[in-house]
Amino acid sequence: MTISEKIPEQIKKEIAQLVKDLNYHCYRYYVLDAPVISDTEYDREYRRLKELEEKSNYILPDSPTLRVGAPPLEKFEKVKHTEPMLSLDNAFSHDEVREFDKRIKRLLDSDREIEYTVEPKYDGLAIELSYRNGLLYKSSTRGDGYVGEDVTWNIRTIKSVPLKIEGQGKAPEEIDIRGEVFIDIDEFENLNKQREEKGEPLFANPRNAAAGSIRQLDPAVTMLRKLHLACYGIGAVKGLRLKSQAELVNWLAEARFPTPAMMKTVQGIDAVIAVVREIEDTRGDFTFEIDGAVIKVNDFVLQQKLGVKTREPRWAIAYKFEAHQGTTKIREIHGSVGRTGVITPFAVFEPVKIGGVMVSRSTLHNWDEIKRKDIKIGDTVVVERAGDVIPHVVMVVKEERTGREKSFSIPEKCPACGSTVMREEGEVAVRCVSLHCPAQIQEKIIHFASRGGMDIEGLGEKNVELLYSRGLIQRFEDIYRLEKENLLELPRFAEKSAHNLIDAIEKSKHTTLAKFLFAIGILHVGEYAAKLLAKNFRTLEALYHISPEEIIHIKQAGEKIASSVAAFFNDKKNLQTLNSMIELGLDIKNPDFAAGTDAHLPLKGLSFVITGTLPKPRKEVEGLIEKHGGRPSSALSAKTNFLIAGEEPGSKLLKAKSLGVRTISYTELLKLIEERSGHPRLF
Ligand code: IVH
Repeated sequence: MTISEKIPEQIKKEIAQLVKDLNYHCYRYYVLDAPVISDTEYDREYRRLKELEEKSNYILPDSPTLRVGAPPLEKFEKVKHTEPMLSLDNAFSHDEVREFDKRIKRLLDSDREIEYTVEPKYDGLAIELSYRNGLLYKSSTRGDGYVGEDVTWNIRTIKSVPLKIEGQGKAPEEIDIRGEVFIDIDEFENLNKQREEKGEPLFANPRNAAAGSIRQLDPAVTMLRKLHLACYGIGAVKGLRLKSQAELVNWLAEARFPTPAMMKTVQGIDAVIAVVREIEDTRGDFTFEIDGAVIKVNDFVLQQKLGVKTREPRWAIAYKFEAHQGTTKIREIHGSVGRTGVITPFAVFEPVKIGGVMVSRSTLHNWDEIKRKDIKIGDTVVVERAGDVIPHVVMVVKEERTGREKSFSIPEKCPACGSTVMREEGEVAVRCVSLHCPAQIQEKIIHFASRGGMDIEGLGEKNVELLYSRGLIQRFEDIYRLEKENLLELPRFAEKSAHNLIDAIEKSKHTTLAKFLFAIGILHVGEYAAKLLAKNFRTLEALYHISPEEIIHIKQAGEKIASSVAAFFNDKKNLQTLNSMIELGLDIKNPDFAAGTDAHLPLKGLSFVITGTLPKPRKEVEGLIEKHGGRPSSALSAKTNFLIAGEEPGSKLLKAKSLGVRTISYTELLKLIEERSGHPRLF
């Protein structure tokens, strides 16, 4: 007596009904995208089935519970296809599609219009599903067309794959069904986002993602990927007679297989081309990627007559859209300097044709991107050029590495002018801060002369371009070397306009430090920061060779300003330019310098060093000192006026004594402010 014989008929019946129902609902949901019950109801039925199966140990071969739970494999077994899985010949233009039609008519020795089917060409992975007496028993990848890999357990996790052939009539004895596994573009993007977060290598495109998901040794991983299937063909078959491609697709749909999102049957090549156009025009409306349209002779008798070449049938052709991607090798990596000084890396490739256009270079966006994608010189890379988007490197094909690839590090010198470059902490951008950088000079001079800057009327974009292209202005100081005669030789200048410009330049020589600091275009120094610097530094020269620490003590100046100002005033060539301008008559006054205006403040001219723990946070105390005109400092010297000592003072206390610096408490500081101001503290 077998186990199943002991199972009450009632239970068997219920199990059979549940399997039937659940498979039907799965079909409604995953194939038709039109569910008729809620997810909760589905889950309830599924749990009931699982419970009955466990209790009775009676599991039908098409039970939905058999989609999941297979253990990971060590490797994929090889599967020989009963009928080879052919590939398709390509047509890259409508003319080539017409050629295909002519060829067919010639081979068939007929003038009559041929009936064709046209369907989208899915950009996924071809697979074969083998059914015996209606039950799915094996599925395999295409492989080389003759031998593929056994991916049965992975394919079973795809919910739209029928485990059993349903529908009217008896299922064929044997049938191999062919189709494409693919993934939606949205899902591909989600997947890559997750992989990026986990630091895993990205998939180059949806096809890669679908193929990678099917060629997974652990079916549990495949199950999490939302894979789809579209069935468009058959291989070996016993017990089924079909007349045409259109009839086949109808049969597949009735048997509950997912079929192509569209398929049209038309007479003659003009109608074919109209459908091809329609598919091409609506390419972006599909939720998945298609890379062309497949045109097939509809009638199976004609297909038979036409036969196959070595690897492709004569009765079908793939019209390929322009590709978005190509593979090539990186020959070199360089930096290019933009008009704002940002240095952007770019790759030089072995030229590759993508979408009909030769691509030989592409931006690499920034230095972090090179690191993140692990791009090296000599690497084979996937390059994308979609629509109007500039070409970019999608990923490195790591399998192609030979070990001879070379890493590329951030340049230390500006590729346009050789000056030292700067990278701010936490920033991805690398910049050239030189005033002489030819890549930036025009932009900088336009800013220099603008109304908010030196306000040189007549030195706008057009004239700067003209003067630069004639070699009359190559550096800032050249502005002050211009003479009327030089201008008169230029096409755009007459006596009056030349005179006016020279006059405007002359006038601009008399300026203020705040205006000049803004005009010279130091990174992060806008009008406000320029004024702040002017308030704190009496002269331009006071900023020469400055350190970021000397700036950061200015209350409103952040680290960014401090480091970029310091980088600017530590560049020798920049200082040379400033000096040349002064020699040429630049006259900078500084009415903003605070010495005169805040002389009344109680702590003016006094310096303070803090040691130990004070009743208020140190920053707050420093702010208080500054607000009242004093200067907080961390360096204790004989010049320090006061040491403010809190609890548990450090070695500074002893040092102050030996230097003869007066030590006071926090309360004494407050008193000092009150005494010297003659009015209560300003808070
Ligand atoms: S029919 C003998 N129809 O394209 C004809 N193939 O480049 C077999 N493909 O290996 C294929 N969508 O993976 C056919 N609607 C479609 C298709 C399609 C995508 C793939 C298939 C095939 C490859 C050939």
